[in-house]
Parts: sequence; structure tokens; C-alpha cells
Amino acid sequence: MQRLNDTPRPLDRRTLVTGAGGYVGTLTAAALLAGGVPAVLVPLRDPSRKDEVRSALALELLALGADPHLQERIEWLDWPEIDDMNVAMLAALMRDRRVEEVVHCAGCIDYYDERALQQVNVDYTRMLGEAALAVGVARFVYISTAYAGGYREGQIREALLDEPPSDPTPYTCSKRRAEHVIAGVGVPWLILRPSVLIGDARRGRYSGKRYGLYQQWMGLERLMCGKYHADIHTVAPEAPLNLLHQDAWQASFLACLKHVPDASVVNVVSEASSCPSMRQLWQMWVAVVRPQRVHFYPRFEDVDLRAIDLRQRAYLSFAQINLEIGAHVWSFQRGWMHALESAGHLAFDHATVDSVQQCQDRFVAASDILREFSRRHADSLAVMSQFIEVRSDENAVSNQSLSVR
Ligand SMILES: NC(=O)c1ccc[n+]([C@@H]2O[C@H](COP(=O)([O-])OP(=O)(O)OC[C@H]3O[C@@H](n4cnc5c(N)ncnc54)[C@H](OP(=O)(O)O)[C@@H]3O)[C@@H](O)[C@H]2O)c1
Repeated sequence: MQRLNDTPRPLDRRTLVTGAGGYVGTLTAAALLAGGVPAVLVPLRDPSRKDEVRSALALELLALGADPHLQERIEWLDWPEIDDMNVAMLAALMRDRRVEEVVHCAGCIDYYDERALQQVNVDYTRMLGEAALAVGVARFVYISTAYAGGYREGQIREALLDEPPSDPTPYTCSKRRAEHVIAGVGVPWLILRPSVLIGDARRGRYSGKRYGLYQQWMGLERLMCGKYHADIHTVAPEAPLNLLHQDAWQASFLACLKHVPDASVVNVVSEASSCPSMRQLWQMWVAVVRPQRVHFYPRFEDVDLRAIDLRQRAYLSFAQINLEIGAHVWSFQRGWMHALESAGHLAFDHATVDSVQQCQDRFVAASDILREFSRRHADSLAVMSQFIEVRSDENAVSNQSLSVR
């Protein structure tokens, strides 16, 4: 691995941030403004979203404790749809607005729409990269995902990756391909791979859509809180689930921009040993809905879906991919993050059981469905839920009880 830059790069470039109307893009654009860039250029496909995006950015600046007047450094660009764009057009737009750096956060995160994944994640990245090269931008920062390595043995290295035996979804495959594209275009590049973003480390404030862990909580809330379930059947492996606080993302992003040399790949992940496992996340959830018994299965295939409540079957089917991803033992090289922390360039808040608990508490506190559930079923809620381990080759092997009060 190369060394950190001897002299930090100043954040002094007019920076185009694609996807600034989305979750990661808003966080990232706000971090850039707070970090002192002279201008953040926000491309919008739909100009009528300007006020909405401006408000979202203002909230993120406020959350960072930054001066709200920094918003004056936002410049808006009318941006074509992918079907209507070409490299020359993008280059002209960038040249006209004197773009000096690109941070590419736009992406399709639909797990299965292979056409959109190819078009948005791979083809659009290529066009932007080629346009950036034509204009001579100083650097192209591509926001990938920690899961771009797919299912493979051993560590996900901080390098461009070959094809793994399999991928969790076509999404991860498209992100890996996009990494190769951007590294091959000829423009100076940096690839950052965040894991799953969650609320901030201090208060659990989350400003994204209901993806990742929030999708799981929302699924549980919507599909399993219409009635009281005395028995819950679920898959809850003990492997750590890598989560990343949104403020830890912002701090890491800025530190990487300043200190990590071009042509590097950074896994922006928490230390695995600090992260909660899917099992611990379930224990947190159980403490809210307080069933009498929880049946833990090692793998999705071990659950007899026909034998369980329809709503639970619907939930497990909805969450299947995320449960499978959670069951895989992911190991991420964390060389750059270690280097940044050791050099004192980054104070990083790892995701822990306690910090994720704060995020869940905030989710629960905001949920009318859960409030109504607790009120309606107050007499049924277990004082002690019993945990039952179901082995792959049949039946319970051990029982434990957990006080949930
Ligand atoms: N959320 C996470 O936990 C996480 C973790 C790791 C990596 N990432 C990466 O972060 C990126 C953004 O994800 P997100 O969570 O912020 O999702 P998001 O809130 O849905 O934002 C997606 C962004 O991509 C843009 N986009 C989607 N389709 C587009 C298209 N056809 N043409 C132009 N722009 C398009 C959207 O533009 P509009 O605003 O115009 O709709 C939006 O700004 C993705 O590349 C994802 O791989 C996310």
C-alpha cells in the first residue's frame, strides 16, 4: 500500500457532486461545503427539486455545525437524462462551469434492475469519467460500496477486484465493474467504498431513505406489528454486520480527499470487532416487540416457510437478500482507515451495539405503528423472551431466556 500524502491536499477545487439530490450525495456535498471548497456544483435532472435539495443540504450543514451561509457556494446545473447525454455534452457542461474535481455519488441501488444498473452505474460512470478526462479535472472520486467485492473467500482488499465466485446481487457486480471503468478511463481517480450507512454516531439521526438496516426495521414494523406474534422465526447469524455512521462517512470522506493519494481504493468501514451481528440486532428488536419465543435459524434455507405465520413468511421473503448478506462473513482490509486514524487525520466513530441501539431507539420513537403496537398488546408482551437455537439438521438444541425489560 502507498503512503498517505505528505502534504494534505487543500479542498480548493470547484467540485461537481453527482447524486447530490440523494442521501449519500447530500451528506457528501454538505461535508465538502463545511470542509471549505469554493463551490459545489449540483447537477439536477429535475430543476423543480432545487428547493428540496437546498433544504436537505441546509439540514446537513446544520447537523455538521457549519455556517448555513455556506449554501451560497452551491451552484446549480441543469443536467440531461442519461438517455439524452453524450461525452461531448457532459464535457461542455463541465468546461462551461469550470469543474475542477468530480465526486460521483449518483447510482442505481435497485438490487435487480440489471438494465438500470448497467446504464446508471457503469455507462454513466464511463461517460462522466471520459468527460472529466477531456476537461482535465484534477481528480474523479467514485463512491462505490464495500460490498463491490461480492462473495469471495478471504479479505476484500483495497484494490481493484477480480470477479468473485458469486455476487449477492447484480448491484454489487455493477459497482465493481464501474470501479474498473473509472480506473481505466485515464483520469486521476480515487475510489471510496462505504459500507451500509446508518444514523449519526452521537444521536442516531438518519437522513436517508429506508435502505439497509432501515429497510429491515421498516419491514418488521410494517409486516409484523399488525398483531402480536408470540413466536418469531428468523435468521440471525453471529457474523458482524458492517455498518457506518453517516457522520463517520463525512469525516472519512474529507480525510481521504486530503490525505489519500490518487489511484487508491479505500474501504470506508467500521472495525469488524466493534460492529453488531445480525443476532445482536435481532436481540435489540426483540426487546421492542417482546415475543414469548424467538426461533433463530442459521440460514434462510433452514426455515420451513410453510410452517410459519404468513406475515413472518412475507417478512423473511422480503428480507431474504439482506439476511443472506448478513450471514456471509465479510472481511474488509482497513489499511487506509487505520493509517488515517493512526496519523491523527481522522477521529472515526465505529458502529457499535450501543451506537446502533441509539439509531434503533430513534426509529422506534418516531414510529406510530410501534407506539400503537405497544399500547394495544401491553398485556401480552413477554417479560423474558426465550431464545431457541434451531440447528440446520433439525430442531432446537438450546434455549436461553433474555430479560427484555
Ligand atoms: N446508502 C448507503 O448505505 C450506501 C452505502 C454504500 C454506497 N452507496 C452508494 O451511494 C450512492 C448513492 O446512494 P444513496 O443511498 O444516496 O441513494 P439515493 O438516495 O437513492 O440517491 C441516488 C442518487 O443517484 C441519482 N440517480 C439515480 N438514478 C439516476 C439516473 N438514471 N440518472 C442520474 N442520476 C441518477 C439520484 O438522482 P436524483 O436525485 O435526480 O433522483 C440520486 O441523487 C450509490 O452509488 C450507492 O452505491 C450507498
